[in-house]
Amino acid sequence: MKDEEIKFPEGFYWGAATAAHQVEGGQRNDWTEWETSPARMANLERSGLIKKYGKGNFISGLATDHYHLFKEDLRMAKALGHNAARFSLEWSRLEPERGRFDEHEFAHYLGVVRTAKKDGLEPFVTLWHYTLPLWVRDQGGWENRSTIDDFARFVEKVVLILGPEIKFWITINEPEVYAGDAYLAGRKPPQKKNPVAYLRVLRHLAIAHRAAYAVIKQLSPRSLIGIASNQIHFDARSFDPIGKAAAVIADRWWNARFLNRIAHTSDFIGVNHYFHIWTGLWPDRDHYPLSDMNWKLRPASIYPVLMRLKRFGKPIYVTENGLADSKDEHRAWFIRETLNGVHRAIGSGADVRGYLHWALLDNFEWTDGFWPRFGLISVDYETLERKYRPSALAYRDICRGNGITPASKTKG
Ligand code: FCB
Repeated sequence: MKDEEIKFPEGFYWGAATAAHQVEGGQRNDWTEWETSPARMANLERSGLIKKYGKGNFISGLATDHYHLFKEDLRMAKALGHNAARFSLEWSRLEPERGRFDEHEFAHYLGVVRTAKKDGLEPFVTLWHYTLPLWVRDQGGWENRSTIDDFARFVEKVVLILGPEIKFWITINEPEVYAGDAYLAGRKPPQKKNPVAYLRVLRHLAIAHRAAYAVIKQLSPRSLIGIASNQIHFDARSFDPIGKAAAVIADRWWNARFLNRIAHTSDFIGVNHYFHIWTGLWPDRDHYPLSDMNWKLRPASIYPVLMRLKRFGKPIYVTENGLADSKDEHRAWFIRETLNGVHRAIGSGADVRGYLHWALLDNFEWTDGFWPRFGLISVDYETLERKYRPSALAYRDICRGNGITPASKTKG
């Protein structure tokens, strides 16, 4: 198998992903207020992180100025052989006050969508990727049931305007991660550590997905709708029954719970995959390279993740997968090996139809700020200059060839 060419199914989607708050710049939402709040600053100061990275690292500010430079960014994606692009809409721009929609911002996103399509990039549009308008935050965010109705109304407006252009909608990004970080671990705004609120938020996000699904289907029946779910591979040694049982429980709890709730109102499953977590009593004997954020790099984990999702009987899109790697040491290898796993899963019956790498360009990595470099394209935050990383070109060859050739295997 080693030296053979690996081909993906015809029409496979190749591309990369971004999220509005992480790239656009100039936001005014719950995150921007939280980023600069005295409590947050004091916290960063105390933990020595300001000293280490500088204050600016933690404030999204202008980010990559993708808001103004999106044409250039999409052109670069096109030159990289992509035929798809995932990005999110910023609710706080489109509806800065309850019920007041900003036509100018709708025109902006219409411009983004049309530019993408003109460049041959199929848009995968995320409706909600972590950030809230201030008025939604003030009413209690996703803890408040009425946010579901507000979200559905927002989605209706979006679909009325953008609907005719869009085939793929992702309603909610990583509900598991958002609810856990913001309401259990207290890491992201509103920084609660409250299991009751956590379960409530998860429940509301599931209802919000279903409400959005109904609205989109009614207005735009031919479009396809899913979520982007964070899927982790839990594992243990085969002779370790306790570790294996723990992996099964963790899988049910983390991977299956939310998806089971919304699968019947999903046309596809979007999977964001980053992690392999060892649950064994006996240690993992393999050693893995680490990303700049110390995440274990084990691209082979994509295979079992995809195989587990097969049971839903739906098309699967990898909506995120990537690593912080400022020196670009591992990225080409990581992408190639991940895609080998994807290809293998397709061969074993998983209906995978696309791969969107995280991320198209360097960006603001939430609580960690700007230092983690996830981009296929690097960004100089002083000059905003963009440059292809070598791995972007290795991935380009895969995208263009719709597969992994022996040549692209040896490169990078
Ligand atoms: C995912 C998020 C995405 C990005 C990557 C690294 O959990 O969806 O916005 O931060 O992690």
